[in-house]
Amino acid sequence: MLVASNRGPVSYTVGEDGSLDAKRGGGGLVSGLSAIGSDADALWVCSALSDGDREAVRRGVGEDGVRMLDIPAGVHADAYNGIANSVLWFVHHMLYQTPLEPVFDAEFRRQWTSYETYNRAFAEALAEEAAPGAAVVVQDYHLTLVPGMLRELRPDLRIGHFSHTPWAPPEYFRMLPDDVAGQVLRGMLGADRLGFLTQRWADAFTACAEQFAGGLGGTRIGVHGLGADADFLRKRSHEADVEERMAALREEIGEGRRTIVRVDRTELSKNIVRGLLAYRRLLETHAEWRERVVHVAFAYPSRQDLAVYRDYTAEVRRLSEEINAEYGTPGWTPVVLNLKDDFARSLAAYRLADVALVNPIRDGMNLVAKEVPVVSDAGCALVLSREAGAFEELGEDAIVVNPYDVTGTAAALHEALSMAPEERAERSKRLAAAATALPPAQWFLDQLDALRG
Ligand code: G6P
Repeated sequence: MLVASNRGPVSYTVGEDGSLDAKRGGGGLVSGLSAIGSDADALWVCSALSDGDREAVRRGVGEDGVRMLDIPAGVHADAYNGIANSVLWFVHHMLYQTPLEPVFDAEFRRQWTSYETYNRAFAEALAEEAAPGAAVVVQDYHLTLVPGMLRELRPDLRIGHFSHTPWAPPEYFRMLPDDVAGQVLRGMLGADRLGFLTQRWADAFTACAEQFAGGLGGTRIGVHGLGADADFLRKRSHEADVEERMAALREEIGEGRRTIVRVDRTELSKNIVRGLLAYRRLLETHAEWRERVVHVAFAYPSRQDLAVYRDYTAEVRRLSEEINAEYGTPGWTPVVLNLKDDFARSLAAYRLADVALVNPIRDGMNLVAKEVPVVSDAGCALVLSREAGAFEELGEDAIVVNPYDVTGTAAALHEALSMAPEERAERSKRLAAAATALPPAQWFLDQLDALRG
């Protein structure tokens, strides 16, 4: 069995003394797939993403069961930053400010050629590694052309593809140049089976295939709603480093105050800025919460090669400071913002959360929405965007918001903060049950069974 994804389970940095330091990759894809763990028969093919990764490939350093592809840095940058993250991610999350973008010009065409090259490198590596009849599961929008390319090289393989993102509705997808849209769809349809996180994204893909590629052909579609890993989270969140960070956080928050917690990559689609605007509106209209609540916002760095992500991060920082300047008092900091990735500190915040704020513009699933109810000590109220995949499973016990409606989100935060402790605990229990219905290992096995069956 083989897995292919852009980001692999580890990434390397070169230390000052020249040594290589390994770190776990971030995001929902890596969290979910870590379930394949140390399966001796599995091979995870991924791309070198940094100079550290390329150095590791050159030195022959690596983990068992992982093959990192040393794709030339320029080709990778075009494919990953240029096409995957600036075009396909934007299309599926509907992030364009359309009066001025997208612009599909000669530069786009040049980058598209790199995207093809990068996909071909994966297809060739998989074709080379796979035993006869092996199952291959290709992950995400970075690798949409791989199933079709691999099918041509190795018709004997069982090929699956799984999308960890939403899929764009046809009216938005057709923004892509027709030939490119066709290539993406035909590439995906080279798979025997395509997996999505929710029915909504599966239906959007089917609609695109019907309108722009003459239908699904022989390709089957499946829905697998990745859940949180309860056993791992409960155990990990009670280790010493988490306890330490809880003590530090409590100090920062101050005695007796409520917490509204959010943890995200600093990602355009996560809607962190409108979350802050809603919090400011809450303080403005519900003066009773001043001094009594703290918004703990952890936004760890992501895709900082892209200017729009750097600008977004700066805006998150600016707005947090503005709110603190406007409402803060000597003993109270209304927004505790932290932009450095620290998994133990995230878990500490989950445990302390009274309210979890998950308000993405659009999101494949959003695992944070599933993780907080599992980990929170006293049970938390979940304010959840109806545009997150997790809404399909958690909507009933969450306080649901339209992510663009800042006034509505402020009202939802007030409702969440005001929820009676018993109701909060009850809802949190049901949220945790729904959130853990399909743990990562089972999520992955189901896909393999369906692919082989
Ligand atoms: C999302 C995508 C993943 C990606 C992750 C982190 O969850 O679906 O494919 O790995 O974000 O983003 P990054 O660009 O850092 O890999």
